[in-house]
Amino acid sequence: MEKSYIIDAARTPRGRGKAGKGALSGIHPQELFAQVLRALEKRGSVSAKDVEDVVVGCVSQSGEQGANLSRNAVLAAGWPIEVTGVTLNRFCGSGLQAINFAAMGVASGAQRFVVAGGVEMMSRVPMGADGGGVDGNNMKLRERFFQVPQGISADLIATLEGFSREDVDEIAVRSQKRAAVAMEENRFGKSLVAVTGDTGKIILEKDELPRPDTTKEGLAGLQPSFVAMGAAAVGPKGETLDQIALAAHPTKDGTIHHLHTAGNSSGIADGASAVVLASEAFVEERGLKPRARILATATIGDDPVLMLTAPAPVSQKALKLAKMSVKDIDLWEINEAFAAVVLQTMRRLDLDPARVNVNGGAIALGHPLGSTGATLLGTALDELERSNRQTALVTLCIGGGQAVATILERV
Ligand SMILES: CC(C)(COP(=O)(O)OP(=O)(O)OC[C@H]1O[C@@H](n2cnc3c(N)ncnc32)[C@H](O)[C@@H]1OP(=O)(O)O)[C@@H](O)C(=O)NCCC(=O)NCCS
Repeated sequence: MEKSYIIDAARTPRGRGKAGKGALSGIHPQELFAQVLRALEKRGSVSAKDVEDVVVGCVSQSGEQGANLSRNAVLAAGWPIEVTGVTLNRFCGSGLQAINFAAMGVASGAQRFVVAGGVEMMSRVPMGADGGGVDGNNMKLRERFFQVPQGISADLIATLEGFSREDVDEIAVRSQKRAAVAMEENRFGKSLVAVTGDTGKIILEKDELPRPDTTKEGLAGLQPSFVAMGAAAVGPKGETLDQIALAAHPTKDGTIHHLHTAGNSSGIADGASAVVLASEAFVEERGLKPRARILATATIGDDPVLMLTAPAPVSQKALKLAKMSVKDIDLWEINEAFAAVVLQTMRRLDLDPARVNVNGGAIALGHPLGSTGATLLGTALDELERSNRQTALVTLCIGGGQAVATILERV
């Protein structure tokens, strides 16, 4: 894998993913991604005519996010009609998977110059809009694995691990405080692309979701978000979702402790991001100056009911492929889908909290599903350069019990 190079990364700010309320919610998802493509071209990181393919992660591919968003965004950006586009779905790992596929393309020599990233506008195409739920409503599969909604999985993981409400809220406060410092110090500036409206006026230039005044007392007052969902009697024999999850993974006291709230879960968001990848031959031929190279990529599956526990094993798999160990990684980006995911992964890998999500994460900044993986890679790259460190590992948990990871190193 050493032969795939990262030339540049860019992203929009993350807007609140609520219709009519989020600053980006008036923009078509194709146009949002097209703005990132144009920005990369404008800053000289891409000459559009050389791009062989644009690989885009997007989870809810229906309505405005249907119809192969990537190809349409290429056309919307005014790029040459020869540039192709493909849109993929690996749930929350989609944006990083897009990069990993592009990295494989350039590392193998099959491609030379590829743009990869993701987009999700949850204000316009809400989570679940494709109607498939988490299992395509396949009742036969449901007899084997009844995949409960991820909020219940997150609460079940917290219960099994013995995390308290204070533990998960502490992760949320940390995410907010670190994001606040990052924004004050303009640490996201290198990647950020201001989004403009139809008149050319800037409508959003910094992340919209963070609540820098968050306190642990304020968080403690929030009601858990997944109690009613857990009590929904939707099983074949009238069992509740909590009972279904507990049948697969019994807890000590026979209950699920519902600890996740609006304050310690990832925020619903709009956003788009992209990374430019090149092969070694293309870098040499054009005299490009890569910012980093990709050392390893990996995916792995784990229990589909717990659903969110694969970031630790996928990190170990990627580290093995790169012939590295946990202590060789300077910075970790573990997607903050829910606070318990970060805590469980840190515990499994025995990570130093000072190296994990140093600029906050999706709890403070939001998680536009298909885009987040590519955003995290760009954030890690910018931070490696800012703090003069060398290696980063980016990982995300994924619906269905999967995870994806990428290890990068500055060059
Ligand atoms: C948890 C969840 C259901 C909460 O949704 P929500 O109720 O619409 O959440 P909001 O962000 O609008 O917050 C609701 C309220 O909580 C309070 N709140 C949220 N964050 C807070 C914080 N940090 N401090 C204090 N109060 C806070 C506020 O009162 C807020 O209302 P306001 O925006 O009017 O001020 C939703 O964020 C969610 O589903 N997240 C997970 C998404 C997901 O599953 N992604 C895939 C991952 S695998």
